[in-house]
Amino acid sequence: MIFDQDMKKVLFTREQIVERSKELGAQITNDYKENPPLLVALLRGSVPFLAELIQHIDLDIQYDFMDVQSYEGTESAGDIKIIKDLDTSIVGLDILLVEDIVDTGKTIKTVCETLLHKGANSVKIVTLLDKPSRRLVEINADYIGFEVGNEFVVGYGMDYNQRYRALPYIGVLKDELY
Ligand code: IMP
Repeated sequence: MIFDQDMKKVLFTREQIVERSKELGAQITNDYKENPPLLVALLRGSVPFLAELIQHIDLDIQYDFMDVQSYEGTESAGDIKIIKDLDTSIVGLDILLVEDIVDTGKTIKTVCETLLHKGANSVKIVTLLDKPSRRLVEINADYIGFEVGNEFVVGYGMDYNQRYRALPYIGVLKDELY
């Protein structure tokens, strides 16, 4: 593929991601069988994972999107700008937030708090990747695809300067490209 030559290593193949998504989907199906959740995916990185995951959730679910941005140069959690809000009313709903990667945790923590404030009944998090070594705020995902170390990854929705999102696997770029 066009991007293969840029990669230092592959961390997770498409097959591994699909297999893990099946396991997560089965768990989510079981946990939410009484009350199917509204999946809320954060643009744009979580789109490929959302598309895979929903095929393995055997419930009458719906999904919607949010786009948020952290303000430049701020360190505090809670400081995000909503670029695109949900189209769905969430009062009383059980929400499952879908993320590509939880890094410092600031984004997801703030979004969780915002949704609860807006009247969601519950908010849980499913993330394809978790980078716990980088965490700056206390937040943990409820469902985690894979844990990664402290390195910048691309692919399967995740970008470096908007590139590499379409890569069908997750990897690390060659040092000279960062
Ligand atoms: P957080 O608020 O620091 O947890 O940031 C999470 C967001 O940062 C993710 O949704 C990604 O968009 C981005 N991000 C964090 N680490 C990586 C990475 O290794 N590769 C690509 N994007 C990343």
